[in-house]
Amino acid sequence: MNNRKVLVTGGLGYIGSHTVVELQNEGCEVVIIDDLSNASISVLDGITAITGKKPQFEEIDLKDKAKVQDFFKRHSDIEGVIHFAASKAVGESVEKPLHYYENNINTLVYVLQELKTFNKKNFIFSSSCTVYGQADTLPISEEAPVKPAESPYGNTKQIGEEIIKDTCKIDESFKAIALRYFNPIGAHSSTEIGELPIGVPQNLVPFITQTAIGLREELSVFGDDYPTEDGTCIRDYIHVVDLAKAHVIALQRLLNGHNSSNFEVFNLGTGKGSSVLEVIRSFENVSGEKLKYKIVKRRAGDVTAAYADTNRAKEILGWQTKLTLDDAMESAWHWEQKIRN
Ligand code: WQD
Repeated sequence: MNNRKVLVTGGLGYIGSHTVVELQNEGCEVVIIDDLSNASISVLDGITAITGKKPQFEEIDLKDKAKVQDFFKRHSDIEGVIHFAASKAVGESVEKPLHYYENNINTLVYVLQELKTFNKKNFIFSSSCTVYGQADTLPISEEAPVKPAESPYGNTKQIGEEIIKDTCKIDESFKAIALRYFNPIGAHSSTEIGELPIGVPQNLVPFITQTAIGLREELSVFGDDYPTEDGTCIRDYIHVVDLAKAHVIALQRLLNGHNSSNFEVFNLGTGKGSSVLEVIRSFENVSGEKLKYKIVKRRAGDVTAAYADTNRAKEILGWQTKLTLDDAMESAWHWEQKIRN
């Protein structure tokens, strides 16, 4: 990947920043676009501290079509794009659907339009296992039917994939891969970058670490009456560094012309389901902390269980996770301790 110039939109975000690090480790020249609506400029220093190379950065709101057009005029030598930029809070999307459709769909269309104008070929899309809803069979394969979205956020991921698919249909030379993440957790081992939720965390793992560090009173476990072994929901928790490496491999696949069709989809998970109580136990084991939590009623919209069939990613991408739940929980805890000190 030496000296390949790659645009990472949303590159100061949680998964984006970890992916920038892995791209730079592979010798890529990275340009980041971020509107800083859900990320801090300090993440740029974190990336630089890890790799020793400061990525180019431009603060651009991708909803501003003219700004997007201007950017691509100035960077016509970009060879690939990894598109993370989007709002991603499920609950918030229910309260502000139009914000989510504008911010997640319009921006995707403007970026794709410029890629077409500049005859840019390679596009990696940040998608989500949310598109499956509660799948009928587990583990969930890429062939599982996409179900009606449970939230406007999930709908924007489904619509986004359809927009990209239609773009690929009319232009064989345009190549795209949609990566459907399961539950990204953890932080870079350097503790220079990690998850930075704004306000009260919606996701489980940052709520656990913020409770343990004393920022939150106690964790509420949303229901223990599900039809699972311990009654709590099951998810596929994937270390964000493993996830980031998958993006580099997917982009290399397109840059090297190894894709078998010009629109491909891959699930990115560990293939292993873990319950909420198992995640809590993992945290307690790696941190030595006793977590304060209580069981409360179910959260609307939660599915009982979701974990990935990882065969396609393993056999076709040649990628699989290497880090464990304990590795992820330990890195999340070290990160929480670092940012609170
Ligand atoms: C995990 C489990 C909760 C918080 C979401 C999005 C998905 C992706 C990842 C973007 C569930 C339980 C949680 C808490 C709890 N995001 N929980 N107490 O909902 O599986 O996935 O984030 O792509 O698209 O849907 O993740 O971390 O919110 O919940 O008991 O305070 O933890 O009920 O079972 P989720 P989560």
